[in-house]
Amino acid sequence: MAKEKSVYVCTECGGTSPKWLGKCPSCGAWNTLIEQASTPASAGGGQNRFGTQFAALAGASELAVLSEIEASDVARTPTGLDELDRVLGGGIVAGGVTLIGGDPGIGKSTLLLQAADALQNAGQLALYVTGEESGAQVAMRARRLGLERSQVQVMAEIQLEKILATLDANRPAIAVIDSIQTVYSDQLTSAPGSVAQVRECAAHLTRFAKASGTAVVLVGHVTKEGALAGPRVLEHMVDTVLYFEGDTHSSFRLVRAIKNRFGAVNEIGVFAMTERGLRGVANPSAIFLSQHSEPVPGSVVLVTLEGTRPMLVEIQALVDDGGPSPRRLSVGLERDRLAMLLAVLHRHAGVACMDQDVFVNAVGGVRITEPAADLAVMLAIASSLRGKPLPKGFIAFGEVGLAGEVRPAPRGQERLKEAAKLGFSVAIVPKANAPKKGAIEGLTIHAVERIEQALDAVRGLD
Ligand code: TYD
Ligand code: MG
Repeated sequence: MAKEKSVYVCTECGGTSPKWLGKCPSCGAWNTLIEQASTPASAGGGQNRFGTQFAALAGASELAVLSEIEASDVARTPTGLDELDRVLGGGIVAGGVTLIGGDPGIGKSTLLLQAADALQNAGQLALYVTGEESGAQVAMRARRLGLERSQVQVMAEIQLEKILATLDANRPAIAVIDSIQTVYSDQLTSAPGSVAQVRECAAHLTRFAKASGTAVVLVGHVTKEGALAGPRVLEHMVDTVLYFEGDTHSSFRLVRAIKNRFGAVNEIGVFAMTERGLRGVANPSAIFLSQHSEPVPGSVVLVTLEGTRPMLVEIQALVDDGGPSPRRLSVGLERDRLAMLLAVLHRHAGVACMDQDVFVNAVGGVRITEPAADLAVMLAIASSLRGKPLPKGFIAFGEVGLAGEVRPAPRGQERLKEAAKLGFSVAIVPKANAPKKGAIEGLTIHAVERIEQALDAVRGLD
């Protein structure tokens, strides 16, 4: 069969070239040309002026007045896994495309097999396309999950055209593609897993989902840097992007929505990996605390808000004599933000770490992106530097600005109530987050407006 012609398109400027080049002939960027199947020029070309070529198409697509379009809410089918439904915004949406990424071995295949089985049991046809494992391996996982009687349809296939033909013939309610990196189209010459293949295959599967109403779930690999392998356009193409987070050494796993056209973003689902698959954790607020029998220097508990639920996460800092070029490392927190916080600590509170190595870590492999973690990070650093622990039952949250001001965090009351509920007794929080009237039972609150006040308050607790 003759191969369809392909063109090479620059991912930076969109310029094209008939053959692969190291440097884009249009914008001069290096290594940006990727292969793409060329779409045949539309019939009747030649004339390229508006009005002549497209006149025949006028009226082909209908115009509608916005107010007259019926805004029906999308129909969702709950997967039966509550924590997954929470991140999806209530369940899978017919015709919706979800991309789910995460480190190898974190539980993507496990979660999707469980979800497919639950949907199948609810009377929805579920189809699981496996490109990484054989059918037997998938069956083994199903046995382990206690799903030996599962009616989910399994297909071990990696060729896009065959997958599409099978999907079209069966019209499942949900199709899982595990993984998009293993799928290839024979319309392209580049190898499976290459940017061009991943992009092309995802585009075809997306088109199929929209046309047929099948909900498609694509499993995506992540690169060493933690981004989804393949072009960023993959994230733009799909409706929902979910990421698995968590430490493969601990049993807890977070699934976070970073994009969702059908629901809220930053909502998280919390699971525990057990002997029999992933189990939802309905009340996760206290799982990211390590158990110190006595308080230790450099440890502060942060109340963070993930989606709609407050969670307590221990932030640890270690400040130690560094060499000529001291290191700043962070796990689960942004490193650039750490450098900024160190500068604010020095400039506004006189805490100098210039000649010290500074390491910070959010316990349990959670990734914290909200600035409300600032105050806890700074107090942990100051505590490690002084070698003095914070008192037992201590929590903090609040954003710290470049001028040293402590800014309020969203929904402070909820955070404080959650901490009190879990038995925490002392809090340093932004002034605007302190309860206006009445106190929160069992919690002594120190409200601060500046970072130096926060450090003074800590010294007052010694
Ligand atoms: P898997 O879903 O294969 O990960 P991914 O598809 O993201 O690569 O998860 C595999 C890991 O989960 C593996 O280390 C074993 C563990 N696991 C359990 O602990 N319990 C179970 O019931 C299953 C199926 C897997
Ligand atoms: Mg897998």
